[in-house]
Amino acid sequence: CLSPALIPLYAVEEYNVVIIDIFRATSSICYGIDNGAVAIIPVSEVEECAAYREKGLDYLLAAERNGEVVSGFDFGNSPFSYTKEKVAGKTVVLTTTNGTHALHLSRSAKKIVIGSFFNLTALSNWLGQQNQNILLVCAGWKNNFNLEDTVFAGAVIERLKCNDFILDDSAIAANDLYQIAKNDLSGYLAKTSHSERLKKLGIEKDIAFCLNIDITTAIPVLQGEKLVKLK
Ligand code: MLT
Repeated sequence: CLSPALIPLYAVEEYNVVIIDIFRATSSICYGIDNGAVAIIPVSEVEECAAYREKGLDYLLAAERNGEVVSGFDFGNSPFSYTKEKVAGKTVVLTTTNGTHALHLSRSAKKIVIGSFFNLTALSNWLGQQNQNILLVCAGWKNNFNLEDTVFAGAVIERLKCNDFILDDSAIAANDLYQIAKNDLSGYLAKTSHSERLKKLGIEKDIAFCLNIDITTAIPVLQGEKLVKLK
């Protein structure tokens, strides 16, 4: 069974869960782990992130709310902050408006991995080999539906539908949306509310960058409290 969910209304413990927040949390996580970050620790609250300052170790602290870097933190959620130069060999503690929230709601899943256009093929190939039910958790925006996460879920489904998965209606709908969008992802996703939000903040380049397909191969997986590279 293969399903995309807005928020985990499903019994997540029965699934391998993929967390999806294309603009920008899961793109940045995939990029950071592929660029050699030792781990990314996702936390729900800004205060939890700030608390790592006191832990005495060399953490980079990243916090985003409503698309902006929270003041006092090293950086936010732009993929350009997760380059080799910035994160290789480091542990990043990250809180974002929706992405890290969706991850925490899914904590009781069998396994949690992170997906974005960056690792689409690597992720889909791995999912196809697992013989597990898959729940594609679309972070959306403040518990509402969004297009970009659903279109990405449709792209994963496109690559997996030749396997023996049973697609539920939300999987069929996501895959249909992907058929509409696939030949012009950036044109189609330009109409999304989060594109508008990020444009107002002057960070269109992040939107364009997050739509690069297969520029990474790492699959971030949650181990304990940390996202690390799946071995
Ligand atoms: C989120 O987690 O809500 C986001 O990725 C928002 C953003 O930083 O663009």
